[in-house]
Amino acid sequence: MVLLLSVILTLGVSWAQEQVQPCGFPEIKHGSLYNENKYKSYFPAAIGTWFYYSCKDNFVTHSGNYWDYITCTQEGWSPAVQCRRKCIFNYLENGVSPQHEKEYMEGESLRVNCHADYTFPDQQTSMTCTEDGWSPPPVCRVKYCGMPVFANATAVITGARFGVNDTLDYKCLDGYENRDGKKAGSMVCGEDGWTHLPTCYKSTEKCERPPSISNADFTSLPLAVYPPGSRIEYQCLPYYELRGSKYVTCNEGKWSEPPRCIDPCVISEQNMNKNNIRLKGKDDTTYYVKTGDLVEFVCKSGHTAATSQQSFQVVCGEGTLEYPRCE
Ligand SMILES: *[C@@H]1O[C@H](CO)[C@@H](O)[C@H](O)[C@H]1NC(C)=O
Ligand SMILES: *[C@@H]1O[C@H](CO)[C@@H](O)[C@H](O)[C@H]1NC(C)=O
Repeated sequence: MVLLLSVILTLGVSWAQEQVQPCGFPEIKHGSLYNENKYKSYFPAAIGTWFYYSCKDNFVTHSGNYWDYITCTQEGWSPAVQCRRKCIFNYLENGVSPQHEKEYMEGESLRVNCHADYTFPDQQTSMTCTEDGWSPPPVCRVKYCGMPVFANATAVITGARFGVNDTLDYKCLDGYENRDGKKAGSMVCGEDGWTHLPTCYKSTEKCERPPSISNADFTSLPLAVYPPGSRIEYQCLPYYELRGSKYVTCNEGKWSEPPRCIDPCVISEQNMNKNNIRLKGKDDTTYYVKTGDLVEFVCKSGHTAATSQQSFQVVCGEGTLEYPRCE
């Protein structure tokens, strides 16, 4: 193909040699000349000369094929618009999508059908394939927010339809409150529907601050009240071992059982000196071990074991550890 093309081009150029040469290097928008660098020296080109070009993704050539050619004419390059946008229609958000994907060319328009209560910007009913793609984009937005279904609450206004940015106030039923601990609230109709639905729960079901446990922190900042279903995470201090679930959940006004943080073992130099032992393969400095971890000791030089061989491998148990002894 390359070779053949060169021959054609060479013939074209020699034939046109004595003609007028009105065509400069073509700037192809959204595409490029075939083997552009190689043919750069052929410009300006003479009338009748033609060159292959292709278009980038989402654009098609004049003929709709991947390759096409432009010809130098008296009026300049032909076609004048080499690459046209191709738009695909396969999905309309919140509206009726086509059963089969369809292609549209730049400049073509298409009617759209949004679902009830949804609309196109400015009540438009069609979109157009432009150089930048669909305009407007294939997305139907909420026209009205319908009256939501309330649980544990009542709307302050009734029977109305709500446009974007309209608010709807609600009141929690007696004995109920919302997540902010208030008896009333308001919601906003957004482009995708209500921003949030009212959540009112029985006041007696909320929890106060979760219990503090020793040697642990919460992973989140404390709040004044917690709605039912809230979950809080605990984190033990370094070397403390967490026992139980690290979460507590608020249910019917009570928190579930919090975890415990188990003490680590502190291996002190003093205790090791007393028993003429040292840590195997470690410096003799104070050292912390988590419950359940294994510690290995050896006799200090010049001393021999006075306890069994097994006693030199010790497991830390909830803050206590039995030292072996050497004499
Ligand atoms: C809704 O409010 C936002 C922010 O205030 C604004 O940008 C937008 O244009 C409003 N929309 C309508 C439909 O009023
Ligand atoms: C209604 O209140 C009950 C009791 O507090 C609660 O379990 C439920 O989640 C609430 N429903 C809504 C939608 O807020």
